[in-house]
Amino acid sequence: MKAAVEAISPVNLQAEWERVEVLAHCLLLSRSGQQPRDDVLKRLEKLQLQVDRLRQSKNSPWAKLPINGLTPLGMDVLACIAASEAQPKTGWLYQELQPANPQPFVTVALLQQLLALDYSELHHARQLTATGGEFRRLDLIEADQDSSFTPLRPGKKTLALLMDLPQIEEVPPGAYPVRQRASWDDLVLPPDRERVLREYLMWLRHRETVVDHWGGHAVGGPVALFSGSSGTGKTFAATVIANEMGWPLYRVDLARLVSKYIGETEKNIGKLFDAAHGREMVLQFDEVDALMSKRGEIKEARDRYANMEVSYLLARIEDHQGPCILTTNLRNQIDKAFSRRFQIVAEFPRPDRTARALLWQRMIPPHAPRADDLDIDFLAQAVNLTGGNIRNAGLHAAYLAAEDAKPISLAHAAIAVYRELAKDRPQLNKNDLGPLANYLPEAIYSSEAVQNG
Ligand SMILES: Nc1ncnc2c1ncn2[C@@H]1O[C@H](COP(=O)(O)OP(=O)(O)OP(=O)(O)O)[C@@H](O)[C@H]1O
Ligand SMILES: [Mg+2]
Repeated sequence: MKAAVEAISPVNLQAEWERVEVLAHCLLLSRSGQQPRDDVLKRLEKLQLQVDRLRQSKNSPWAKLPINGLTPLGMDVLACIAASEAQPKTGWLYQELQPANPQPFVTVALLQQLLALDYSELHHARQLTATGGEFRRLDLIEADQDSSFTPLRPGKKTLALLMDLPQIEEVPPGAYPVRQRASWDDLVLPPDRERVLREYLMWLRHRETVVDHWGGHAVGGPVALFSGSSGTGKTFAATVIANEMGWPLYRVDLARLVSKYIGETEKNIGKLFDAAHGREMVLQFDEVDALMSKRGEIKEARDRYANMEVSYLLARIEDHQGPCILTTNLRNQIDKAFSRRFQIVAEFPRPDRTARALLWQRMIPPHAPRADDLDIDFLAQAVNLTGGNIRNAGLHAAYLAAEDAKPISLAHAAIAVYRELAKDRPQLNKNDLGPLANYLPEAIYSSEAVQNG
């Protein structure tokens, strides 16, 4: 949570907006052949100094823009574009300054005069603002055409970041938000595995120290590989990490990125990472074994993503400056050559008996009445379930009890476990429940047997 608090900057760009206003005011005067008063010029000088300082500060909203190496001219241009929204009275000045086509937005033509651009600066401003230019590509600004007299409007993202407004959560294309309550206290893992996850968090928290202050090599990512059977808590752990940072977690659906049209898949991958660029979020990619398998193995999975531009995707994951968590149920299938791409590899074991008891304890709703025979240790020992299984079974048992209007008993738990196991094993034998089978009501089992037989 600490990082989330630090991320909110107290610095605002008031000086930027005022500077643009004064510039517009001076331009209006000079159009009518007047000189600005001395105090106005002094004010402009002072604002200029404040603006320079702001732009160098790591805490200023400028630092949050998803763009690397923004030039001073680029900042001037963006400030002029955003100014009429940030400070609406500047919009009136813009209208007065464009009498033939009054509009509260700046154009390239007006920029040229406001900022007194020379020819090469004008060219740079055009490059930034034209279709395909950096501002347009990153949705920092909007425009309908590319002429010098087209109004340039600030994008939602720009306004939110520069004006320090709450950002509307925009889900990156191809991804789904994963939201759940999950903290270290909820996660049941052997201490050495939890430690690996905490070390991953260190990569997120101390990047500034290691890279900016200590001159550490700035690699992309960090990229983590989480491996383990289904239901062992990989997504859950990813949520814990995201929640610790106060960032949203997005699960990327690889299938949604794949297109049968040439070049489209790369475009989709590009859109995803462009949207994620510079934003605080955790990206999770599932079933990466399909992408990183040893040649020839798990052919079926490979075929599924036959059109996936695998090397392009992996390159984008590696270059992305932000956490990517890759998961797999098939660690052994992953080619060792890929290991160097991960900053952290965490293995999620199936829970042992003690862990299962803890999980049962937590997954049975806390305020549900429990029958005397509901022995958690016995449940934990009886069947070797994963955390995911136990979550489902714990809830199912609670619903059975609610329907019976009785406390949750071992019989309810036995039915719930039976249902959970039967999901993967239609031919489930009563004995698969181990000693818990003794508590399975006859009716459940015999009706099932008839169906199966
Ligand atoms: N180690 C664990 N600690 C705490 N809860 C767990 C753990 N493992 C599983 N759970 C519970 O089971 C649910 C399902 O687990 P999760 O979705 O994280 O599994 P997964 O490893 O991502 O599986 P899959 O490979 O199928 O995506 C979690 O939401 C959580 O409630
Ligand atoms: Mg998962």
